[in-house]
Amino acid sequence: MTAAHTRSVRIAPSLLAADLGRLKEQLATIEAGGADWLHLDVMDGVFVPNLTFGAKVIETCRTLTALPLDVHLMVVEPEKYFESFAKAGANILTIHAEAAPHLHRQLGRIKELGCKAGAVVNPGTPVESLRDVAADLDLLLIMSVNPGFGGQKFIGASVEKIARARALLDAARSSAALEVDGGVTRDTIHGCWAAGADTFVAGVAVFGAKDPAAEIHALRARCVQAGVQG
Ligand code: DX5
Ligand code: ZN
Repeated sequence: MTAAHTRSVRIAPSLLAADLGRLKEQLATIEAGGADWLHLDVMDGVFVPNLTFGAKVIETCRTLTALPLDVHLMVVEPEKYFESFAKAGANILTIHAEAAPHLHRQLGRIKELGCKAGAVVNPGTPVESLRDVAADLDLLLIMSVNPGFGGQKFIGASVEKIARARALLDAARSSAALEVDGGVTRDTIHGCWAAGADTFVAGVAVFGAKDPAAEIHALRARCVQAGVQG
């Protein structure tokens, strides 16, 4: 496992849990509050049983924040959206191994468009399915809930999977971000960090908090705090 002191913590609040009626204010709050990335969940109602948004919302967020836009595509045929999302201002495009049979080619296409390329696995998909593209990844995302909805309970087995993901990236000498998505809270974040994750999506934990900025700070502090049990 990578030594904890060589990793820095990234907190990526998820737009899914934000109050869209106050989008400008919500983004300003997290940016001023120390968020590192903004996580955007694109869902097509086919790959997952929920629908969210597409290029237009990404473009709007681009005009409202300087934070890197971390776009998570929960869609079938993700390649259909690469170009429009890149044009809209996405910085990272992350695609599901389950929805991308030509993963190697699609990661290459994302990079050609000037974005960072990420791959993600559902709770039921072994992270080892990403072994042969490990060196091509800018980001590896472990789903710690079944994707589709915010506010779900963290799946405990994800911690051991994060450790395997960390070993896999280290073996490939990859400096890819290792991100966790779903049910990340003050109670679950430390175990993920200790297992080797460095980037944490947090929807309800941040936007559901009375003080989102304080919550970002608390989540970050929980990672490095000695003696905290994950
Ligand atoms: C779930 C999405 C997540 C979601 C996380 O399908 O991929 O990014 O916003 O929400 P919380 O942090 O509330 O579990
Ligand atoms: Zn997500």
